[in-house]
Amino acid sequence: MPKFFLLCLASLALAACASAEDFQGSTHPLEYDAPPVSYSVSAPDDPVSRLARRIQAGEVKLAWDDTFGYLPGLLDELHVPRSSQTLVFSKTSLQRSYITPENPRALYFNDDIYIGYVVGAPVMEISAVDPKLGAIFYSLEQEKLRKPKFTRSADCLQCHGGLRSLGVPGHVLRSVPTDVTGELNTAEEVGDIDHCTPLADRWAGWYVTGRHGAQTHRGNLIGEKDFARHRAEPGWRGNITDLRPFFDPAKTLAPGSDITALMVLEHQAHMHNYIARLNFETQQMTAMYGHIRYLRPQTDAFLRCLLFTEEAPLTAPIEGSAGFVRDFTAAGPRDHLGRSLRDLDLRTRLFKYPCSFLIHSPAFDALPPVMRDSILARLHAILTGEDHDPQFAKIAEPDRRAILEILRETKPNLPDSWRAEK
Ligand code: HEC
Repeated sequence: MPKFFLLCLASLALAACASAEDFQGSTHPLEYDAPPVSYSVSAPDDPVSRLARRIQAGEVKLAWDDTFGYLPGLLDELHVPRSSQTLVFSKTSLQRSYITPENPRALYFNDDIYIGYVVGAPVMEISAVDPKLGAIFYSLEQEKLRKPKFTRSADCLQCHGGLRSLGVPGHVLRSVPTDVTGELNTAEEVGDIDHCTPLADRWAGWYVTGRHGAQTHRGNLIGEKDFARHRAEPGWRGNITDLRPFFDPAKTLAPGSDITALMVLEHQAHMHNYIARLNFETQQMTAMYGHIRYLRPQTDAFLRCLLFTEEAPLTAPIEGSAGFVRDFTAAGPRDHLGRSLRDLDLRTRLFKYPCSFLIHSPAFDALPPVMRDSILARLHAILTGEDHDPQFAKIAEPDRRAILEILRETKPNLPDSWRAEK
């Protein structure tokens, strides 16, 4: 009996190690429904809840489109660019029966909203970032009404509130091969896709448009026959720019499932989950101990993620939709040299300056002040070279300097240490 007990302990420890690496930090699901977070009973303040209030007050009328329902009106009201469109055909979500390779689910996003739309499905699925509560989930019925209603839905947390999203209410992205109908083969699932996932493991179950040279990925493969051919010819179905052979393009608002949009989406979704996790852990820690000293491994891991130290390198240039690059980069604050954390590199890595643009997000600034200040102070020490921690040794000196200079000019409310001349 004791032996069995020990074995169990050993395997638990192993499982924790494996997933700790995936998550780049601690992994256990957090009790976010209990105080101090009280997720489900707290009133959210996110862009969708604000729009819902304006619609109810009669200040906004959401436009209805006879083909796409509320999709175009919603994208316009929430300033979500059509160019962010990506397409996934693996059957997931509460509307799985509508999703097939001929009728993929379209996703659209901006910095704090994610929208899922499927032709013929009764509702649109939306997640919006509340700076304090993490992702809030809504459905919107695709029925023409005078005042369309957004319903906050707890059902979504079955998949969006556990281990697939860092143990917090958050975003889920994965790469799962499917059969010809879109049914998943979960034995081959790669979960928690983010900027660290090698391209070769990404995008099973997704369409991918754009050029990427000799790098391979698993997108555009439908059914075992396609995967078998891909194993023999790894470049097959790569570098595709036209999805007309797969489904009727009239079903989507924009052409394609853009490779650059996918890469930004994957970085961003993971980072949002991480910010929410760090926020909740800080609140719990301070409630319990009155300090955050025990969170050092978590803050280290968060900084490694923020600074892309474990990013999967690109081995050939990525060339996706010019529209997405234009819309995405236009949104950023810039320094006097015109530099922004939203500038894309797409030759050897995703961003030109490897520090997440979400450092500018309301969610980052809503971290409890003790954590926000501690992260920013440490970041300053890393960027100036004062902190020699080998975890960050890979960041090149010109990158450190550029990030430091950009943040000094574009990020308000930096701690005093940042203002000193260095
Ligand atoms: C059965 C599991 C499951 C349920 C339940 C579910 N989703 Fe998802 N959702 C997923 C998966 C998996 C993805 C990743 C994309 C994909 O593979 O389709 C996803 C992606 C999304 C996305 C895109 C970005 C993100 O936030 O991850 C949105 C928006 C979304 N879901 C909203 C919802 C909403 C709203 C509900 C509830 C009404 C819901 N989902 C219920 C599995 C689920």
